[in-house]
Amino acid sequence: MKRIITFGTFDVFHIGHINILERAKELGDFLIVGVSSDQLNYNKKNRYPIYNQQDRVKIISALKFVDLVFIEESLELKLEYIKQFEADLLVMGNDWEGRFDWVKPDCDVVYLPRTPSISTTEIIEVVKSIK
Ligand code: CTP
Repeated sequence: MKRIITFGTFDVFHIGHINILERAKELGDFLIVGVSSDQLNYNKKNRYPIYNQQDRVKIISALKFVDLVFIEESLELKLEYIKQFEADLLVMGNDWEGRFDWVKPDCDVVYLPRTPSISTTEIIEVVKSIK
């Protein structure tokens, strides 16, 4: 039984989010997703997400290839979460390439290519620009 863990904000849910979660699940048997808290997102990107954390957790929990969802409160706790949920493999998008290699003594790490031409930030910009 191989346990996979991944993290993200997953705000304004889009096809890039589906693709990475689907591909992450294909690498093992049980997929655990850490959804960034509203506060963590504010600290990271200087704005609150459009969808609040309860709604983002509800959306991710509804996906058939996701087995367990929790709220990620701090970026620095990655290793604690990995241990707590007994993950064997950390999957991240390649926008994070190399950034989590420090967990490798405890957990394998794979960076998957991002889906081209889509991001939450871009969607927000496009919507804002519509008059
Ligand atoms: N992701 C992806 N392909 C995309 C967008 C996101 O594979 N086109 C992945 C990220 O690499 C990450 C996960 O989806 O592993 C969650 O990313 P998140 O930051 O929540 O989404 P973004 O659309 O990148 O959001 P933002 O534009 O605010 O950074």
